[in-house]
Amino acid sequence: MLLKECKNCRAVIKVEKDCECGCGFTCCGEKMQNVIPNSSDGAKEKHIPNYKVIGDKMEITVDHVMEADHYIAWVSLEKDNIEIVHHLNKEKEEIIFPYIKGATLYSFCNKHGLWERTVD
Ligand SMILES: [Fe+2]
Repeated sequence: MLLKECKNCRAVIKVEKDCECGCGFTCCGEKMQNVIPNSSDGAKEKHIPNYKVIGDKMEITVDHVMEADHYIAWVSLEKDNIEIVHHLNKEKEEIIFPYIKGATLYSFCNKHGLWERTVD
């Protein structure tokens, strides 16, 4: 997954195919920067998605607050040609994904950015 962020207005875009000529994507008149998972100053244990395997499914949780100005915006699962995204409406919800060994789980906090873990 490749996300880019504007360091001025904090806009975030998901890039399906990155620019190859080097001109990059711009926002607020500047090049947007790649978002590096697990690299912000947020607490790791409050942002990395957790999963509990139940048969052929996983229950996904993130031990994070869901407040008006600080929340997990979405959680996703990626593996090869599969991508599943669950957008959250600033409240805790049940999130069920298929259990896929080796998949990557992502969570995105509006303040602390992108977090990831691999499903064992
Ligand atoms: Fe956060």
